[in-house]
Amino acid sequence: MSEHEKSSNVVWHNATVTRERRETQNGHRGGLFWFTGLSGAGKSTLAHSVEEALYQKGFRTFVLDGDNVRHGLCADLSFSDEDRKENIRRIGHMSMLYVEAGIIVLTAFISPFRADRDNVRKIGGSDFHEIYCRCSLETCEDRDVKGLYKRARAGEIPDFTGISSPYEEPEYADLTIDTESRLENCTSEVFEYISASTKNGG
Ligand code: ADX
Repeated sequence: MSEHEKSSNVVWHNATVTRERRETQNGHRGGLFWFTGLSGAGKSTLAHSVEEALYQKGFRTFVLDGDNVRHGLCADLSFSDEDRKENIRRIGHMSMLYVEAGIIVLTAFISPFRADRDNVRKIGGSDFHEIYCRCSLETCEDRDVKGLYKRARAGEIPDFTGISSPYEEPEYADLTIDTESRLENCTSEVFEYISASTKNGG
């Protein structure tokens, strides 16, 4: 039993409206598309852009985003290694509930540690797809959309990914996207990948 499994006497309830029935109704399979990369690499922008494209074609989707989730479900967590691990663990399980509901989930979390991403891969099995948003630290820092790199360099933000906390690149990403290139190109590449991976019967 893991440190997180403290509940006893709980029994899993099986739904009559199953994942398979939902997927038949939706016309596609659910799946978890896990975007990882540095802050400012464009994970959220790309995830929302792909979601828009999928939505327009009638796919059932949802985006889970680091900054948003940390306002609620994970508001109690810091950016220490231990808390990032817990952040990713919660998101992993939550995402799989969406997948069970037949949804295509796109997540945008830095998720800097390989071991944490591999744990989600274990939870998700073949439903999990790791999408590496590759962008150099220099470009992310140049963009500095939220002004956080500047503050991190000034020593005002502890454990900042890429500056004072590591980012471990994926070794076997299912898809690597060069997010220094045009958003339209990145969007269509990911769109094609997701629509091919979520075909019913596929
Ligand atoms: S993760 O490492 O646990 O996956 P997550 O994706 O939820 O991180 O949150 C990252 C966002 O939090 C960043 O985009 C940035 O806006 C903000 N942030 C605040 N402090 C930090 C920090 N120390 N390191 C990285 N991101 C931070």
